[in-house]
Amino acid sequence: MKGLILSGGHGTRLRPLTHTGPKQLIPIANKPVLFYAIEDLKEAGVTDIGLILGTNMPEMVKEAVGDGSKFGVNITYIMQGEPKGLAHAVAVAQEFVGKEPFIMYLGDNILKSGIKEFVEGFEESDYQARILLQKVENPQQFGVAELNQEGHVIHLVEKPKEPKSDLALVGIYLFKSSIFEAIKNIKPSWRDELEITDAIQELLNSKKKVDSHIVRGWWKDTGKPEDVLDANHLILDVLESYNDGKIEEGAKINGRVAIGEGTVVRKGSVIRGPVIIGKECVIDAYIGPYTAIGDHTTVTGGEIESSIVMGHAKIECNERIVDSLIGNHSCIVSVENRLPKGRRFVIGENSVVNL
Ligand code: DAU
Repeated sequence: MKGLILSGGHGTRLRPLTHTGPKQLIPIANKPVLFYAIEDLKEAGVTDIGLILGTNMPEMVKEAVGDGSKFGVNITYIMQGEPKGLAHAVAVAQEFVGKEPFIMYLGDNILKSGIKEFVEGFEESDYQARILLQKVENPQQFGVAELNQEGHVIHLVEKPKEPKSDLALVGIYLFKSSIFEAIKNIKPSWRDELEITDAIQELLNSKKKVDSHIVRGWWKDTGKPEDVLDANHLILDVLESYNDGKIEEGAKINGRVAIGEGTVVRKGSVIRGPVIIGKECVIDAYIGPYTAIGDHTTVTGGEIESSIVMGHAKIECNERIVDSLIGNHSCIVSVENRLPKGRRFVIGENSVVNL
């Protein structure tokens, strides 16, 4: 079985962060979201992976992933160009996939328990597609599946205004090569994209068998800032502690905290886990639960909690930063001495904020 990871798209809902890099490289607990998909495929025994690239700085994805050997997989890059839809991305990959069954994994999705259990039995079955579903509170924002009383999929709609169920399509799909024929028979949707949801509906229309599984563990589509922070919470919930850095005497560490090589936690600092701090950082501050701080970052003074700092950042302030996404090479500096207030940011790369 082959793997296909979609790493194209514009990432408009994550601007300004996606002005300086593709959304699939946004780190969740200090690891690009795309890497979780590669690792899940590897764990499921899929090592021949096609990686779909779009127009938003594809060379950054190539640089981060390389030939796949660091993950123990073999990566083939496939250029899609403009994001003309998930089904368009699949069609572009036809030559790579050939006649084999394949797993398609949206590069911004993240799933707690991996995909191993969902892959089992598909290849030898007569199902032409297997979809994963999960109940959500906002089905309008997803592809939605309608099941009959026996639990079989009868109808699929992409982002319906009036959803017939609360079962959203998770961004992980298994297909046989019949999907390519189905894609040829669909038309662009209202958002002018070739929808994979419509292609699966086309399989149903032509009486092909489509299987579904309900995902019980958590699943996140990291398309919006709040989803990125949620995914960060969920991953940090299972963080294991380690300390490869230096904690000065008089610094307080509570709960599960992971500290990277060359990082120094200065005396007087308080870190309340779960928190992950990358390599070569200097921490002289309060770092609260559910925070991920990327490599080469300095935090001096103030408090930061429930946030992602991507790396190479400088935060020198007496403010309280919460629920924030702070891009690479950003700089947040207090220019006045004021009482701490709660601040919430989504800050793109190379930004400077003077408070
Ligand atoms: O996350 C699950 C949802 O993903 C499903 O419930 C929907 O049925 C499905 O259409 C999809 O909806 P989104 O609107 O969230 O898809 P998005 O445009 O965010 O694209 C998903 C991923 O695929 C993302 O990593 C970007 C990539 N992509 C997207 C398009 C449109 C491509 O590589 N090429 C494309 O043409």
